[in-house]
Amino acid sequence: MNVLLIGSGGREHALAWKISQSPLLQNFYALPGNPGIAEYAELVKNISIDDNAAVVKFAQEKNIDMVVVGPEAPLVNGLVDALEGAGIKSFGCKKDAAQLEGSKIFAKNLMKKYNIPTAKFEVFDNSDAAKNYIRKEGAPIVIKADGLAAGKGVIVAQNLDDALNAVDEMKNFGAAGSKIVVEEFMDGEEASILAFTDGKNIIPMVAAQDHKRLNDGDKGVNTGGMGAYAPAPVVTAEVAKLAEEKILKPIIAALNSEGITYKGCLYAGLMIVDGAPKVVEFNARFGDPETQAVLPLLESDLLEIMDACASGNLADKKISWRNESAVCVVLASGGYPKSYKKNLPIEGITKAKSLDALIFHAGTTEVDGKILTSGGRVLGVTVTAENIQAAIEKVYKCVDVISFENMHYRKDIAARALKNV
Ligand code: AMP
Ligand code: GLY
Repeated sequence: MNVLLIGSGGREHALAWKISQSPLLQNFYALPGNPGIAEYAELVKNISIDDNAAVVKFAQEKNIDMVVVGPEAPLVNGLVDALEGAGIKSFGCKKDAAQLEGSKIFAKNLMKKYNIPTAKFEVFDNSDAAKNYIRKEGAPIVIKADGLAAGKGVIVAQNLDDALNAVDEMKNFGAAGSKIVVEEFMDGEEASILAFTDGKNIIPMVAAQDHKRLNDGDKGVNTGGMGAYAPAPVVTAEVAKLAEEKILKPIIAALNSEGITYKGCLYAGLMIVDGAPKVVEFNARFGDPETQAVLPLLESDLLEIMDACASGNLADKKISWRNESAVCVVLASGGYPKSYKKNLPIEGITKAKSLDALIFHAGTTEVDGKILTSGGRVLGVTVTAENIQAAIEKVYKCVDVISFENMHYRKDIAARALKNV
């Protein structure tokens, strides 16, 4: 198969690494890709991932059999609709299904209608009404912008003052914040379940846990994710079964009842409250950095599974996983998620690879054969080992040999897993 991968982050590097191992793969292109992805795929320049017509034209010219869409923006922007309209298969969902991530109100209303467990909520387009509701409910309470706000449109307010201020802050998110969701605070432990789906059948992957806060001990501001590990022991066999039966299967069925077919990867962000999973959010794509921890455990052929999802043939697929643990530590540039320096030379990537680490590029650029930083999250360092303890020890040995100016990373990735083992 000729494959075009859309995206440029650590998630897409992990996807490219795994797809490149498929015996089904022939020509492989990435738009725009990154220097890590360039090891497996030809990078496509001069086309914007927002330009659906240009992507379709490129796919036609190169006889692409399947387009794999990494990030949410092109899904919400209807790229898969445009590709399918031109008869090109895609791994990724269409615009209507991507609303599950693109609009929190759409997702919450759907869950309410079909009794899918999630936090109690109300929707407001008027600040005063939202504030009155918050005063009535009390804190802690959670305030969310409706639309895509690059992961920043959620405020978990611990006291009433912060909650009331959060309502005003939503105005900073422009159109995304013109409607807001106020929801019950769920007190539990978070986990991410990514699942393959062909629109009818759904197969969950091993559960992962992200680390959203910047600093050790879950301190500091929220980020795109500072590290992940899999499998997450908080998702016991019982929790996994509940998630599949009460959340994953019902949401696919709910979408079908609304006339929407969801194909691709469905990401359920869960809060495990007293042993029962509840939905924090859905994303319409693979999670990042979760994917960098989950895919190294996948034994089966990813491209074959993606083809089954795109073709509606997932029912007879068997997916197997390594009986190991994976830990991914994100190396960020000092200052992230606010401002940070760019173009800093990175040392030690080859050495870390020789220690059996997978180095996924998230924000790098190549200049004259040297790898430099170009983003806030720079690299994901992933290892697999026989258990989580061994994986933690191994990953930090690999991290130790990599350096760039002002490198920041968490030293406690996967530490929570040890409490649950
Ligand atoms: P979201 O973008 O909806 O995933 O929210 C970002 C983060 O805010 C989540 O990963 C949780 O840590 C937290 N969060 C969101 N909603 C809730 C909730 N109802 N209760 C507790 N924490 C929440
Ligand atoms: N790791 C969180 C996300 O992908 O949205």
